[in-house]
Amino acid sequence: MAKQQFDPRSDPDVPKGMSIALLKDLHLLTREGQLNADARRKLKQIRHLVGLLRPALDDALARHAEPSIVDCGAGKSYLGALLYELVLGPAGRGTLTAIEARPELSEQAAARAARFGQDRFRVATGAIALAIDTGNATAAEAHAAARPNVLTALHACDTATDDALVLAIEAGADHVAVVPCCQAEVARQLEATPPLDPTDAALCAHALHRREFGSHLTNVIRGLVLEAHGYKVTVTELVGWEHSAKNELILGKRVNRYDAAARAKLRAVFERFRVEPTLVREPPERPHRRWAATLPQCELSLG
Ligand SMILES: C[S@@+](CC[C@H](N)C(=O)[O-])C[C@H]1O[C@@H](n2cnc3c(N)ncnc32)[C@H](O)[C@@H]1O
Repeated sequence: MAKQQFDPRSDPDVPKGMSIALLKDLHLLTREGQLNADARRKLKQIRHLVGLLRPALDDALARHAEPSIVDCGAGKSYLGALLYELVLGPAGRGTLTAIEARPELSEQAAARAARFGQDRFRVATGAIALAIDTGNATAAEAHAAARPNVLTALHACDTATDDALVLAIEAGADHVAVVPCCQAEVARQLEATPPLDPTDAALCAHALHRREFGSHLTNVIRGLVLEAHGYKVTVTELVGWEHSAKNELILGKRVNRYDAAARAKLRAVFERFRVEPTLVREPPERPHRRWAATLPQCELSLG
């Protein structure tokens, strides 16, 4: 009896309308079209994120003739490839720019995009903090990419998430969505200068608690910095914790220019916990001078 061919389209985790050949190329499906546990986890996560980003993407498509999506710390560009395939491709307009520091990954992503006819998929090789590498993009493309309507960063390592937030704020992105990765910076600061209040100090007396609390505090600060810059912030779970430990999704939608209450809360947090993460560090350490200049250092620095 002939062996029945497995149809991956029947799997609920395979997004409807998605090219099976592209999923295989991304190694999200095996050559036989099966999903292994790792790929299923990744696909679930990205599919879910694309769903949560839908309102932002629809808004960008409604408001801009050529909306620009920028994915920071893109890695193998799973997210970019799916966003293009499921959103920009069917819309027939808009660009997606994947910013990735490792050239071998961005070259792979560019080659894949070319193979699959994703001709509005750009790659920018280099650090997020440099905003964009104009090396092989036209000035117009670089300009569009540097002014994202929607900016994403999925598991951009440690302070790379902060660089992505700086880029979003500096460029005035309408929407921002970050799922932070591991983070160690604030835990180190909590160890070097523990909070003065004994109860606060007890929250981070042990290395493990410092790591967890530092990570929590970092994300609280990220949300407040977005609010301080006029974003309405939602913090939610990306997928159930069984799929990933790094599962906090911070969504921001730009609604105002300035929020004094959020700035006051930030100042209180900095004073109480004596931390100063990359996100708010003053120039010249930050290359984003224009942005930093909009955030009064007297309010936000520890000095
Ligand atoms: C953990 S991977 C996540 C990749 C992808 N977003 C995903 O979820 O599959 C983080 C990626 O961010 C890149 N990265 C880290 N810091 C960066 C920076 N400052 N600028 C650009 N890319 C960076 C790394 O090279 C790596 O490919």
